[in-house]
Amino acid sequence: MSRVVCLGIESTAHTFGVGVVDSEGRVLANVNRTYKPASGGIHPREASQHHAAVAAEVIREAFREAGVEPGDVDAVAFSIGPGMGPCLRTGATAARALSLRLGKPLVAVNHAVAHVEIGKLTTGCRSPVVLYVAGGNTLVTSLVEGRYRVLGETLDIAAGNCLDSFGITAGVGPMPAAEKLAEKGERIYELPYRVKGMDVSFSGLLTAAEKLLSEGAKPEDVALSLTETVYSMLTEVSERALAYLSREELLLVGGLARSKRLMQMLEIMCSDRGARLFRVPDEYAGDNGAMIAWTGLLHYLAGDVIKPEESRVRPRQRIDEVLIKWDNRG
Ligand code: FE2
Repeated sequence: MSRVVCLGIESTAHTFGVGVVDSEGRVLANVNRTYKPASGGIHPREASQHHAAVAAEVIREAFREAGVEPGDVDAVAFSIGPGMGPCLRTGATAARALSLRLGKPLVAVNHAVAHVEIGKLTTGCRSPVVLYVAGGNTLVTSLVEGRYRVLGETLDIAAGNCLDSFGITAGVGPMPAAEKLAEKGERIYELPYRVKGMDVSFSGLLTAAEKLLSEGAKPEDVALSLTETVYSMLTEVSERALAYLSREELLLVGGLARSKRLMQMLEIMCSDRGARLFRVPDEYAGDNGAMIAWTGLLHYLAGDVIKPEESRVRPRQRIDEVLIKWDNRG
């Protein structure tokens, strides 16, 4: 089979990214621009305006970095969801335009599936339980009979959101600031630990931590208490999923995969039970275009293309809605 090339566009939240990959599993380009709000969280409309402003330039840069001509691209992929509507629509519009202009098929990619697939590609793990933790997502999943099943998830806010919000309240800013602050902590306060089966809940924990701050507790001690509690909960549900499915590989993906302390805790748990821990490399941990391009390529090779008129974005699409045709190891 001759080489197939796919270009992918990511735009679910604060990052507009364009990746180019080929069917040998090589990432030829991965160009990402991130919208940074002046204060507070992401405003969807402002983020989408940022994406629209940088789209053409990022696409051009990706072609240049990849060293491919537009005519060499076999398929154009984009994030269809889950994510913020205005941001998703900007990426989808760019992808449709490019697909029509190049006369190449359009491929829709689920953002969560893409985090998992780039993790599998870059670590070489085979049949993992996946812990996907980021600013907007917390999910324990694994491939079972052709779908990434939701084994566990957050019942309220995401783990990353919890740590980002705490960092902003404490005056140090979003992650990794809370974890850095925690390194100076000396005392651990007991905070609400909410695990239900393989589901987790972080909002009560965040409120309790912020209350401690307002009562004058040392921010570094609260940060230490909070990060240890969040990571312990994530470690517990990951272990339960490994045991439940009798799997021996755990794959950590998403922006919070950059956390050294989380990695340490998971490492201890995995080595205790004879499992192997894999972690997505830093450059593919946060949202990025390469993961959409790679997953788009897998879909394209499996025959999953869509018509532009049917490519409406799906802000609430769940990971288990997607049929995974390219991997029968689950
Ligand atoms: Fe993400």
